[in-house]
Parts: sequence; structure tokens; C-alpha cells
Amino acid sequence: MLTFKWDDCFKVGIGEFDDHHKHLFDLLNKTFDAFTTGASHDALSEILRELVDYAVSHFYAEECWMEAVNYPGLLEQKAEHRKFTAKACEFQKAFIDGKEVAVLDVLQFLESWLMNHILKSDAEYGAYA
Ligand SMILES: [Fe+2]
Repeated sequence: MLTFKWDDCFKVGIGEFDDHHKHLFDLLNKTFDAFTTGASHDALSEILRELVDYAVSHFYAEECWMEAVNYPGLLEQKAEHRKFTAKACEFQKAFIDGKEVAVLDVLQFLESWLMNHILKSDAEYGAYA
């Protein structure tokens, strides 16, 4: 089941980061599918780990590029990335620990954060490139 569909409006115009963002969409869909098809707790933990790890490595790649080109919005981007990572890790830990996690809240958070971040903040560095 495909839920989050990639569209050209998400392109920032830097091939490497557009590929990263597309992969984040794939992982988001994979996570959504796993939750909605009743995958095991272990499988869900693994998928969440994959999503969070990939997001963190993507953020790092973006920040390295921003530093290299002296992007003026670097600090704001770093702050947004840290905020996302902290929240996603909090969800991930609660899930792994077997605490009651509102799955729809998690998915909604992941989706809205990523979409908004790509369409607003990332679009700005795309325009700067
Ligand atoms: Fe990004």
C-alpha cells in the first residue's frame, strides 16, 4: 500500500538530497504498511530504527553540504533536525520498551514533519544552491 506519494513539488533541485528524500518517503510507506498490516513488534522496531537512522544520516549529509556552501540557514536547519530526531527517538524508545504508543500519532508526526520540512526549510536551501 502506497500512502505517501512522491511528487516533483518535493524536489529541492540537488540530486543527492532529492534521492534521500525519496528514500525517506519509501521508508515512511514501509513503516505505515508495517503498522497497518499488524507486523510483529520486532519487525516494527526494526523498521522504525531504519527510518530514524536514515533520517539522521540524511540530516548529517545536508548539514555538511550547508557548511561547505556557507548556507545562512544552517543553524535553523540543525535545530529542526535535532528536534525531529529527539521526538522520533522518544517514540522509538517508547515503542521498543513496550509502552502504549499511539501509532497514528507517530505516523502523523513523521509525515507532517517530513513534508513540511522538505517543502519549506529544504526548499529554501534548494533555492540557495
Ligand atoms: Fe532533508
